[in-house]
Amino acid sequence: MGKTIRWGILGTGTIARKFTTGLRVLDDAVVMAVGSRRQGSADEFAREFDVPNRHGSYEALVSDPEVDVIYIATPHSLHRDNALLALESGKAVLCEKPFTINRAEAEEIVAMARAEKRFLMEAMWTRFLPAVTQARRWITEGRIGDPRLVQADFGFRAEINEEGRLFAPAYGGGGLLDVGVYVISFASMVFGTAPDRVTGLANLGETGVDEQAVMALGYPGGGMASLSCAIRTTTEQTARIYGTEGMICLPNPFWSTTEATLAIAGKAPETRRFPHRANGYEYQAEEVAACINGGRLESKIMPLEESIRVMETMDQLRGQWGLKYPVE
Ligand SMILES: NC(=O)c1ccc[n+]([C@@H]2O[C@H](COP(=O)([O-])OP(=O)(O)OC[C@H]3O[C@@H](n4cnc5c(N)ncnc54)[C@H](OP(=O)(O)O)[C@@H]3O)[C@@H](O)[C@H]2O)c1
Repeated sequence: MGKTIRWGILGTGTIARKFTTGLRVLDDAVVMAVGSRRQGSADEFAREFDVPNRHGSYEALVSDPEVDVIYIATPHSLHRDNALLALESGKAVLCEKPFTINRAEAEEIVAMARAEKRFLMEAMWTRFLPAVTQARRWITEGRIGDPRLVQADFGFRAEINEEGRLFAPAYGGGGLLDVGVYVISFASMVFGTAPDRVTGLANLGETGVDEQAVMALGYPGGGMASLSCAIRTTTEQTARIYGTEGMICLPNPFWSTTEATLAIAGKAPETRRFPHRANGYEYQAEEVAACINGGRLESKIMPLEESIRVMETMDQLRGQWGLKYPVE
């Protein structure tokens, strides 16, 4: 086991609570500090999770000398500013998905991490789940032959709230950045390169953001991805990878899956089960610890260039849909 990593949680909303719950099962992690815009929220969070250092501003949190890594758990539109703040203060950063709201912002934080020589990673936690690691292993071993087609969907039904982060353009609202990022990143993981054809259709709803979208991506060599996302319609949330020799299925919800099935023509399907140790968010934190303890500034499993590439794909889709955020 490496050195214990001291975490600082930036923001006290829904995902901050889930991630902190995941962190607490790890032997090499301690939740040392929390920072909120309001001291009261930091105090409440600290009481709930037994966190020693509690700060009433993000600036105070990133200046805490007892913190090694900042976990950014704010709305998408704030990821850039919060990541820059933490990196400039000399902290490593794990930044919630989507990495930022567009490619330009992603490039900016990556450039800052490189300039400051600090670790940075997008919290694309699905990629680190043991069931997804198993799927990657089957692909690498050639068990499904050449991957040709990825099918994945992530749709859920939320009530419209013009001011909330899911529907407000000012927060980078819409299904694409919130859940479309999972299916696009999943296809990117399978094909390991940028798509050379990107096309999609979206319904922009009354608040101006995409409520439902279908996307078709083409990769060099002929691989394809057929993807969908929604924030007003619940869909199955399954991912399948079809290869020349067989198929891998990550059942619903694939984004937090605990099992993977390998189906090869003429053979009985093989299902492997991997119960989470906590809630699934712990595996990405293990990767952060392994990288930091190994002196690595980025993850090989979720590389920075790939996070930028995923943002670029989403920029292209939004360009086709005429969806721009106020800061753009
Ligand atoms: N990995 C996942 O499974 C997962 C799931 C959900 C969300 N996420 C990502 O995590 C991020 C946060 O999502 P969430 O669902 O946790 O959101 P949330 O419940 O609304 O929490 C966001 C937190 O950000 C802080 N914040 C700072 N400025 C804010 C502002 N102007 N408006 C609202 N909140 C502000 C607040 O914390 P303080 O008041 O303490 O400062 C707030 O509690 C999003 O980017 C989302 O995509 C990831």
